[in-house]
Amino acid sequence: MRYYHVLLSTVLTLAVLIYVFISLYMPSELYSRGVTVLGEGEILLPLPTKITKLTVEEALLLRKSIRKWLPEPLDLTQLSMLLWATQGIVEDAGFGWYRRTSPSAGATYPVEVYVVIGNRSVRLGSGEFVEAGIYKYDYMRHSLKLVKKGDYRTDLWRASLRQDWVREAPVTIVLCAVYERTTGRYGERGIRYVHMELGHIGQNIYLMATALGLGTVAIGAFYDEEVSKVISPARDERPLYLFPVGVPEKPFRTSFEELSTLYEKLRRS
Ligand SMILES: Cc1cc2nc3c(=O)[nH]c(=O)nc-3n(C[C@H](O)[C@H](O)[C@H](O)COP(=O)(O)O)c2cc1C
Repeated sequence: MRYYHVLLSTVLTLAVLIYVFISLYMPSELYSRGVTVLGEGEILLPLPTKITKLTVEEALLLRKSIRKWLPEPLDLTQLSMLLWATQGIVEDAGFGWYRRTSPSAGATYPVEVYVVIGNRSVRLGSGEFVEAGIYKYDYMRHSLKLVKKGDYRTDLWRASLRQDWVREAPVTIVLCAVYERTTGRYGERGIRYVHMELGHIGQNIYLMATALGLGTVAIGAFYDEEVSKVISPARDERPLYLFPVGVPEKPFRTSFEELSTLYEKLRRS
C-alpha cells in the first residue's frame, strides 16, 4: 500500500513538472501546430509542404490583382508558403549553394524579403496571433526574425501614396535588393537582372496567393526613402516591390470553358 502511495505521488509530481515545463517553454497552441517561437526574436515557420489543390494552369487562370480584403487574418502556414515562394530553399546544390524557388542571375541572389505584419493579422491558433511588427525572412532557416515591434501598416500606406489596399491588408511582403551582389559580377547589366528577378519572385507570390485562396497586388508606386524608414532594412538593401496580401473580398472566378468561349470570339473577330 505504502509502495503504491510513493509511486502515485512520484508519477503525479512528474506529471505536474512536465506540465509546468511545457506551458512555460512550449506554448501549447504553437507547439501543437508545429510552430516554434524562439525567445522574442525568431519565429520558425511551419515547413513548406503540399497544401494547395490548384494546378499551375488553374492558378494562372485565376491570378488577378486584388485590392479589397475581408477583415480576416492569414494563418501562419499561408504566410510560410508565401515566403517560401519568394526565396525559399529547394535543394542543397553543394559548395554552400542552396537553390531557391526563384531563378537568380549567376545565383547571386540579390533579393532580401521583409514582412509588415499588423495587429491580429497572422493567426497562430485559437486566440493567438503573431505580434505585429516588421520581420525579415531568413531563407536558410525558413524563419522570421523580428526587426521591430508595432503595427506599421498606416506608415506603409502613407509611404505608398496612400493606396488603401496597403493599409487594409493584414500583411505586406516587401522585396528589397542589394544591387551590388549582382552588379559586382555583371556590371551595369546586373541592374536589369535584379529587376528581372523581382518579376520572377512577384509572379511566384501572385500564384502562391491564388493557390492558397488569398489575393495580392504588385505595388511599384511608393516613396523609396519612406518605405525604408518603415522597414529599417540594412544600408545596402533597397525596397523595390511591395505585395500586400489578404483574404479577397471577391475572389476572381472563371473557367477554362469561359476562356475557350473568349478565344473563339477573338478568333472570329
Ligand atoms: C511593376 C508593377 C507595378 C505596379 N504597381 C501598382 C501599384 O502601385 N498599385 C496598384 O494598385 N497596382 C499596381 N500594379 C498592378 C497592375 O495595376 C495590374 O497588374 C494590372 O492592372 C493588370 O491587372 P491584373 O494584375 O489583375 O492582371 C503594378 C503592376 C506591376 C507589374
